[in-house]
Amino acid sequence: MVKKMLYNWKYWWRSLHNHNYFIIKLGVSILLVGLAFRLLYTRSTGFSPISDTPLLDNSRISPPVSPLISQENTDGFPPEDDAGKCNIFIGDWIPYQGEPIYTNESCSFIDAQQNCMKNGRPDTGYLHWKWNPRGCKLARFDPDRFLESMRNKSWALIGDSISRNHIQSLLCILSTIEKAVEVYHDEGYKSRQWIFPTYNFTISVIWSPLLAKAAIFEDMNGVSTSEIELHLDILDMNWTKQYQNFDYMIISSGKWFAKNAIYYENNKVLGCHNCPKRNFTELGFKFAYQKVLHNVFDYIIRSNHKGMIFFRTSTPDHFENGEWFSGGSCRRTMPAKEGEFRLSDVNRVLHEVELEEFDEASAKASENAVNLKLFDVTPLSLLRPDGHPGPYRFFHPFAKDKNAKTINDCLHWCLPGPIDSWNDLLMDMVF
Ligand SMILES: *[C@@H]1O[C@H](CO)[C@@H](O)[C@H](O)[C@H]1NC(C)=O
Ligand SMILES: *[C@@H]1O[C@H](CO)[C@@H](O)[C@H](O)[C@H]1NC(C)=O
Ligand SMILES: *[C@@H]1O[C@H](CO)[C@@H](O)[C@H](O)[C@H]1NC(C)=O
Ligand SMILES: *[C@@H]1O[C@H](CO)[C@@H](O)[C@H](O)[C@H]1NC(C)=O
Ligand SMILES: *[C@@H]1O[C@H](CO)[C@@H](O)[C@H](O)[C@H]1NC(C)=O
Repeated sequence: MVKKMLYNWKYWWRSLHNHNYFIIKLGVSILLVGLAFRLLYTRSTGFSPISDTPLLDNSRISPPVSPLISQENTDGFPPEDDAGKCNIFIGDWIPYQGEPIYTNESCSFIDAQQNCMKNGRPDTGYLHWKWNPRGCKLARFDPDRFLESMRNKSWALIGDSISRNHIQSLLCILSTIEKAVEVYHDEGYKSRQWIFPTYNFTISVIWSPLLAKAAIFEDMNGVSTSEIELHLDILDMNWTKQYQNFDYMIISSGKWFAKNAIYYENNKVLGCHNCPKRNFTELGFKFAYQKVLHNVFDYIIRSNHKGMIFFRTSTPDHFENGEWFSGGSCRRTMPAKEGEFRLSDVNRVLHEVELEEFDEASAKASENAVNLKLFDVTPLSLLRPDGHPGPYRFFHPFAKDKNAKTINDCLHWCLPGPIDSWNDLLMDMVF
């Protein structure tokens, strides 16, 4: 272990010699974790100058403190729909002979870190699968029909870097009809808006990784310097202030809740998750996620919104033989068989809370004529360990040394890649 750490240390030292002020500042253990996070989530050379940060700080994701849920049904599949209606989220990935609708050549919206083709990923099998619900047909996303029916309409994808990953997929597909024009971005390129001029169709991505008011402490490298201060009872204005402007929204959260945080209610400290140096009660992230999602749904239910609101569940990562900071990788080139991968403890707790809170909200939403739908991509995403950039988050990582050690991204998704299928599912739910 020590030897390995030493090796990694040297490796990072060599490749990151320009960050030594940071190295001095933090201890070795934090360094290993922090730099890796920086590497994994903040280096960006192309599409946008921002950190790519679903986990993104130097805190190790720790298991929840609250009791883990039972081990049964651990593949995360939803139960069969007993009304006999086809549930499009229950199905299989089946071979697909066609080519993806866009490539690294035809689409300019792909984040450099997720541009697996450009970055030299050698295998292409992962591009040739499509999601096939059991018992019903799922049409391919039809960008022409989609744009025609979205004249004068607006969409927003609200959440973390997986929402960004998703909007890039959608932008690439829609841009085969007309190129999107950017009309807004914030200072850090985290929240952005595009328009498809012919259709007067606008689409936004809104950065709100926790959906609630939060102070996030990061240094200039995007590495966390202190616990997040999360207000469990106050929603993040980043999305609520624009909420009524959108006809369609896809709201999601997840991984950020597993990070070290101090929880507030009524502007007073209630407790924390993972703050051993402070004298606060450990509440566990499950508690916080339940509270925040409950408030999010409460807001939606009372909102009198006339459009369509999707709640997207969180997506699992597929690190094997380690975590992102300890040599974990994702080398698979084929989808997994059902049951082959289990949701990690963190992912399982997140998904469980998501389903529970959605179920509770769903009935109330329909009573209030709010069109709230579950977009449960967790189980089908779990079957795609082959769809992540892995080492190909970097440009040609093995060009100089075919045994080069790199840090893998087994969390975001290659574009083109599996999450293009999410749009097939969306299209089905919209029409
Ligand atoms: C796209 O990827 C291919 C390899 O799959 C590469 O040869 C080509 O240079 C890339 N093009 C761009 C514009 O990145
Ligand atoms: C574009 O759509 C908005 C509604 O989203 C509408 O208010 C506006 O008038 C439209 N503009 C044009 C030029 O059609
Ligand atoms: C879009 O908005 C413009 C301007 O308000 C209007 O003239 C046009 O009919 C609208 N189109 C649709 C499809 O609603
Ligand atoms: C709101 O958006 C801004 C700009 O994108 C970002 O810096 C800030 O962290 C966001 N707020 C929260 C609570 O995530
Ligand atoms: C920690 O908190 C408890 C209860 O709030 C208090 O009794 C105790 O004195 C505190 N300890 C320190 C070291 O502040």
